[in-house]
Amino acid sequence: MKPVALVTGASAGIGAVFARRLAKTGYGLILVARRRDRLEALARELGDAEVIEADLTRDDDLRRVAERIAAEPNLELLVNNAGFGILGRFCEVPVEGQEQMHRLHVMATLRLTHAALGGMVARKKGAIINVSSVAAFGQSPSSVSYSATKSWMNSFTEGVDLELRGAGSPVKVQALCPGFTLSEFHDVAQVDRKTIPARLWMRAEDVVEASLAGLARGKVIVVPGRLYQVMAAVMRWTPKWAYRAGAQRYARATKRDAAPQKL
Ligand SMILES: NC(=O)c1ccc[n+]([C@@H]2O[C@H](COP(=O)([O-])OP(=O)(O)OC[C@H]3O[C@@H](n4cnc5c(N)ncnc54)[C@H](OP(=O)(O)O)[C@@H]3O)[C@@H](O)[C@H]2O)c1
Repeated sequence: MKPVALVTGASAGIGAVFARRLAKTGYGLILVARRRDRLEALARELGDAEVIEADLTRDDDLRRVAERIAAEPNLELLVNNAGFGILGRFCEVPVEGQEQMHRLHVMATLRLTHAALGGMVARKKGAIINVSSVAAFGQSPSSVSYSATKSWMNSFTEGVDLELRGAGSPVKVQALCPGFTLSEFHDVAQVDRKTIPARLWMRAEDVVEASLAGLARGKVIVVPGRLYQVMAAVMRWTPKWAYRAGAQRYARATKRDAAPQKL
């Protein structure tokens, strides 16, 4: 029997790259997203994949995907990848989009991880990758909910890892924290890619390779790319007061509220 991987947000970007890479490695794929046509095209390309059309911000769709996960005896990898960004001051943008983001990044990750872990722990096999961001290591004006939800993902993943290690389970969890990655993300968030220096962009393929290499080594927090590893270390270890002063200076200097970790 083939091992099975379920990837959320498989209709584009990093999720589609994960799906292609995992199919090559011998996984059977379950592809989840809202755009069925995209998922079906990818399933045809992969030859053998199941498609689930679901809006993971909706309770009924989320429950349906969670039930499918819990019922899959060969599930060896869950990639909680679906996500999006919104640009704008928290108090000025409609709250509905912010709520959707929390539902997708937080509630969907929580529910699907819970649905997968029980079986994986019992079978003593499996892994979960939560696609977070380097934004998780700080706060960013104009991207408040994004940083907050991605910080939650990192904290949640590290907490689950502690539980698994404490129980002596071989099941692995990872928070993958990419920097700027070429995908449809910035089209959805309406961010002009030209405003971001060329050296900061990574290919989704390289992000996925870094994730899988990190998983093989049992790394819980994976930051792809040397530059972002340095940035993440600086963001993690800079004293809070200095980080805040720097972020505010940057916002004033660029005459906009968004700091560069708006990913
Ligand atoms: N690109 C970057 O610079 C970057 C950097 C750091 C972290 N990330 C993270 O990487 C992950 C993947 O993003 P990406 O860069 O690959 O962006 P992308 O190309 O826009 O892909 C996002 C995926 O999420 C799915 N999705 C969005 N809302 C959904 C919903 N309500 N229900 C189900 N699926 C939904 C989309 O599919 P449908 O529209 O078909 O539903 C799409 O497949 C996200 O979690 C993002 O936060 C991206």
